[in-house]
Amino acid sequence: MSMKDRTDSVWETVGLPVFSEIREDVRTEVCVIGAGLSGLSIAYELARRGKKVTLLESFRIGSGQSGRTTAHLSCQLEEEFSDLLRMHDLSTVRKFLEAHRSAIDIIENIVEQEEIHCDFRRVDGYLFAGEGSRENLLLKEREAAMKCGLILDPVLKTPLLKEKTAGLRFANQAQFHPLKYMKGLLQCLQDLGVTIYENTRVTEIENPTPDLSLIRTEHKKDIQADFVVVATDSPINTRFHIHTKQAAYRTYAVTFDYPGEHENVLLWDTEDPYHYVRIHEGKLIVGGEDHRVGQNPEGNPFENLEHWTRKNFEGVGLMLDKWSGQVFEPADTIGYIGKNPGTDRNIYIATGYSGSGMTSAVIASQIIPQLIDGRAHPLADIFDPKRPPIRNMSEFVKENMNVAFQYTDWLTGSDVKSEEEIPEDTGCLMRHGLTKACVYHEHGDSFERKSAVCTHLGGIVHWNDIEKTWDCPAHGSRFNTHGTPIEGPAISELSPEH
Ligand SMILES: Cc1cc2nc3c(=O)[nH]c(=O)nc-3n(C[C@H](O)[C@H](O)[C@H](O)COP(=O)(O)OP(=O)(O)OC[C@H]3O[C@@H](n4cnc5c(N)ncnc54)[C@H](O)[C@@H]3O)c2cc1C
Ligand code: FES
Repeated sequence: MSMKDRTDSVWETVGLPVFSEIREDVRTEVCVIGAGLSGLSIAYELARRGKKVTLLESFRIGSGQSGRTTAHLSCQLEEEFSDLLRMHDLSTVRKFLEAHRSAIDIIENIVEQEEIHCDFRRVDGYLFAGEGSRENLLLKEREAAMKCGLILDPVLKTPLLKEKTAGLRFANQAQFHPLKYMKGLLQCLQDLGVTIYENTRVTEIENPTPDLSLIRTEHKKDIQADFVVVATDSPINTRFHIHTKQAAYRTYAVTFDYPGEHENVLLWDTEDPYHYVRIHEGKLIVGGEDHRVGQNPEGNPFENLEHWTRKNFEGVGLMLDKWSGQVFEPADTIGYIGKNPGTDRNIYIATGYSGSGMTSAVIASQIIPQLIDGRAHPLADIFDPKRPPIRNMSEFVKENMNVAFQYTDWLTGSDVKSEEEIPEDTGCLMRHGLTKACVYHEHGDSFERKSAVCTHLGGIVHWNDIEKTWDCPAHGSRFNTHGTPIEGPAISELSPEH
């Protein structure tokens, strides 16, 4: 049985080197927790600065969202420029966009210098008017982008689309194969002497003093570190601060056979939720159908994506791969990168990347090592995790009302009358007196029973039938069928159900 997600992304055929679990206590200068693109990029930058770095990963390297992404490298994917300008002053928006633009340059430089073969290539991106798009939306977006310093060319026909559809061209964006890039970074980390442990889940972070952390692992081996970087996509060290300022969404991706010669471009549309499209080795990759974690929509997201693709593209063959993943949407659209908003002076976090996680991870690798070195960084204020969500109060209130509503699940009944009704390889919620249990029926008479109460802040987990996991609709924690957390903020296992 899979310990993590059930589906595999198109990238996962790349073999990455294997690392052992931790087997002894370790003393290090910086402990980086989480080996996705953030963890690897931050560890790389720290090691190049001469720091002694230890990297911990609870499963395999790249098994988080960085192995499930679609890897568009772009300075705009999800948020409208007009929304960005509504929430932030012009200078902030300009710096924010420039940070993402130069993150693509940084990746390109690393690819060249380190000779990483990861199919990196510069391509143009196109935003096109999706169904039900507001009148003049593209025109307004172009004007807003121009204010932010971006010149977008209008086109009458967006490439690849069946119908003649207007769009805006973003010149000189990029794409790569995320796991090949991470494999290259891993080789650099090994050459730089970084110590790496896989299958080593962090279960607690303590601070005996504000300047020293004790990182406890599931193997009862501890790491003492002067600095900690929590690069777990959703931070596992903070209970409230960040999780009330960002919302967890699931998103879905599929690939189709796409024979023939096609212009290699990135596409995304103006629908809400939006669709995102790219090409990789004769396959068309299409993503979208986002919804709040644990709040499953009507219908099958993969079928919906297939329907949308066949309506909009010609020459699309069989559906080949399908998978889902998670993104964290910050209330004011800018990620949270920097010092943890607590009293411990030595802990740093990187989260809230929305659909721009590749470039955000690289931005984190520029800001955090600089702060650890005790130096200022010009972007630190913009991405400061301490900033209030005040710039987008309405979104903040809406998302938190949604969270509050999820706690009414404490009062609802069972999904089924008896465990025998649960189909094999499926989970259901059952009421047990005042509390609720989540029951997974593996096969025959083999059942796994756990408390359905999320160990983060007591939400009731829901069954995710695509990934075969228990997902918490409050702040996006996810647990496998054994009750082990596979996605934060929860750090502890679901309790046994007696
Ligand atoms: C379908 C999809 C499409 C996307 N498309 C794009 C795109 O086109 N462009 C773009 O820029 N972004 C995109 N994103 C977003 C992007 O993939 C993510 O934001 C980014 O990969 C996050 O990287 P990360 O390193 O911060 O997190 P992750 O890659 O999730 O890495 C975090 C790691 O921490 C580990 N971990 C968690 N808890 C613990 C613990 N307790 N102890 C030890 N380790 C732990 C996890 O196992 C994981 O490996 C997409 C995401 C999805 C799901
Ligand atoms: S993720 Fe916060 S209560 Fe479950």
